[in-house]
Amino acid sequence: MAGSQPTPADTAREAVVEAALGTLDLDAKARLLAGQDMWTLPALPEIGLKSLVMSDGPIGVRGVRWTADDPSVALPSPTALAATWDPELARRAGVLLAQEARRKGVHVLLAPTVNLHRSPLGGRHFECYSEDPYLTGAIGSGYVTGVQSGGVGTTVKHFVANDAETDRFTVNNLVSERALRELYLAPFEAIVENARPWGVMTAYNRVNGTTMTEHHHLVNEVLRGEWGFDGFNVSDWMAARDTVGAINGGLDVTMPGPRTVYGAALAQAVRDGEVAEATVDAAVRRVLRLAARAGILDGAEPVVAEPPAPVDGEALAREIARRSFVLVRNENAALPLKPNGTVALIGAAARDARVLGGGSATVFPARIVSPLDGLTAALPEGTLTYAVGADPATELAVADRGFTLKAVCRNADGTVIGTRSAPGGLIQWMGSDLPDGVTYDVLHTVELTGTFTPRESGPHTFGIKGMGAFTLTVDGTTYYDDVQRPDKDDPFEAFFGAPVPRAQVELTAGEPVDVSLTYVVRLPDDIPMKVITFALAHSAPQRDPDELIAEAVEAARNADTAVVMVATTDRVESEGFDRTDLRLPGRQDDLVRAVAAANRNTVVVVNSGSPVELPWREDVAAVLLGWFPGQEGGAALADVLTGAHEPGGRLPTTWGSLADAPVTQVTPTDGELPYTEGVFIGYRAWEKAGRTPAYPFGHGLGYTDWTYESLETDGSTARIRLRNTGARPGREVVQVYVSPAEPDPERPARLLAGFASAEAAPGESVEVTVALPRRAFEIWDEKAKAWAFVKGSYEIAAGRSIEDRRLSAPINV
Ligand code: BGC
Repeated sequence: MAGSQPTPADTAREAVVEAALGTLDLDAKARLLAGQDMWTLPALPEIGLKSLVMSDGPIGVRGVRWTADDPSVALPSPTALAATWDPELARRAGVLLAQEARRKGVHVLLAPTVNLHRSPLGGRHFECYSEDPYLTGAIGSGYVTGVQSGGVGTTVKHFVANDAETDRFTVNNLVSERALRELYLAPFEAIVENARPWGVMTAYNRVNGTTMTEHHHLVNEVLRGEWGFDGFNVSDWMAARDTVGAINGGLDVTMPGPRTVYGAALAQAVRDGEVAEATVDAAVRRVLRLAARAGILDGAEPVVAEPPAPVDGEALAREIARRSFVLVRNENAALPLKPNGTVALIGAAARDARVLGGGSATVFPARIVSPLDGLTAALPEGTLTYAVGADPATELAVADRGFTLKAVCRNADGTVIGTRSAPGGLIQWMGSDLPDGVTYDVLHTVELTGTFTPRESGPHTFGIKGMGAFTLTVDGTTYYDDVQRPDKDDPFEAFFGAPVPRAQVELTAGEPVDVSLTYVVRLPDDIPMKVITFALAHSAPQRDPDELIAEAVEAARNADTAVVMVATTDRVESEGFDRTDLRLPGRQDDLVRAVAAANRNTVVVVNSGSPVELPWREDVAAVLLGWFPGQEGGAALADVLTGAHEPGGRLPTTWGSLADAPVTQVTPTDGELPYTEGVFIGYRAWEKAGRTPAYPFGHGLGYTDWTYESLETDGSTARIRLRNTGARPGREVVQVYVSPAEPDPERPARLLAGFASAEAAPGESVEVTVALPRRAFEIWDEKAKAWAFVKGSYEIAAGRSIEDRRLSAPINV
């Protein structure tokens, strides 16, 4: 690392790595740099190297199987983790994830995601931390430190400027060097500096004309050269396209395999004189270094010999969730709930909570505590009622509640060759992960078969997610026997595409029926490995929306408080596509308005990973942003609503309407997406545009009050004294913003320079010290190609959000 000396243990590991490298022939080296399947690199027994296993990330560790059969702890979404503004909590999350990784035999976690919230339409917003590079770097550093303290590697991703999903494989993002340095590269740089990640994942997209898997300048010159990154660089899955371009552009490992641009093709390129063997050696050295660090190279002492003390995953998931909830509005002290008051809990998501975002970040928790479960357990008996109110699911979801299914594999004669349980109706078998006794040579069909016991009577819809030939039978009748074809030219369409409705069947609550979905196995030839992926999808009878709202209004009228849970769906926020608007799907806005009119103590809980519009926000008593809260979300929500804990979150990203958002563009034109806004994204852009968002960056209320008493600064630190002037103990996130005294149209008016948290009892005063990094006073000078310290007068301000600044002091630097 730039500025940090190797330890004796590093030196000893390097010696083992060099010795191992020296004995490998070209073919073995080239083989090591290519995935052998979806998640692993080949073992090389001749040097005592075991197979290195990677897995997603970031809210849990899925492991090498993509199934609810192999559950994982699911923490709150990365936006939630960032909303805690607590790098130490992020570190503890990392320690838990290392424990999960070890349990699942995983050596490298494909996380954290540190791309920025450039446009609120970014579909993968929930999986990144913030619009601010400093906060992103701080949370990411904590996370990486935690994971690696458990002896498990990380790949900080996606390097770089993968800030939206539209045409993500090909989009050419045109970004000025200044915006790259001051915004998009900054979190990576901070994490490399603070946490020494063992890996980085290179993005799909292009930056300024060059695809990131071949970006010599950003990878070899900036990441490795300037910052001294000594870890390995893995491609995003299927991102590498060109053998020579990739290896010379600094890409060490291409994933997945077995079809690959490395391996034999790389060895051949060396033999043909197109690639220097020394370049291959450098890549192999970095992979062996990773293996040595992770403890899978014989003779090398792993970085962590003894795993850290065990962590209680459920307790930590609950703690992070309640610390992440952002109370953006609380009129007349609507929260916490009054003891023994009656509560009408309303909303489909209150019963079937959406706890995590879709795509590669998906994990399968062993249990989910819904808000209904959490509040039922926390509130006195007889005080809680529930009404659906509005169901935002506008389409089918993967079969889940009420289904008991297994997968049956048959050969071409129809003989059963293997079975596997299939909780949840999703089949995602990759590479060699097939049921015992089954091989691709003989596998002809996979049948999902079992029963469904409906919760409601009425017309149930069944559908199919996936591409290929399917037969769908419900209760003895075959409703579909045909071929589903992709309507989009995306290799991940089978993963991310929408399920298609294929049957509507009248069913009676509580009466089980047989269901069966058979898939004729045909392996796509445009992906590098064998994958069988399809799902049975279902939706319950859709009730009349007006009737549902009327029912909720009635429940609200009869309760002291109405708690309405509104949510996005997995067709709104997911990897693989961007959003088209920020509205809550379905009739949820109508629902909130109707309930608010019926009960003045209406509390709205927003279950989304990233910003949504809240057009009724001034008409309700309280608004609590709950993110995708992870598996214990409902318990955490009960903690916060009842006042057992205060909500601890502050906004890591500005919340406002799409019409007002200054930067929105995510769709390339002719393949190009120019970042015309330069260094002005997030609050930097809102301030420049002179617009006021619904809720500003950094905003969030607790259950106590704070008075900021003094601020002293010498330009390198800021010391802030504050007092808890409320009636209960609390925790405050003290934010420090720096702004040039003379407005400069080329620079943000103000930026987050640092933050610290303070805890105090009622009446108690505390002092925090926040370091002011040199970077807060620097800009990237494009002509000099270097950071330039801008001398002059600045205002240092301390406060509760970028708008609510309580104290300020001038300084000259
Ligand atoms: C995602 C990565 C992920 C990889 C493996 C890609 O589609 O962009 O973030 O780690 O798949 O699942």
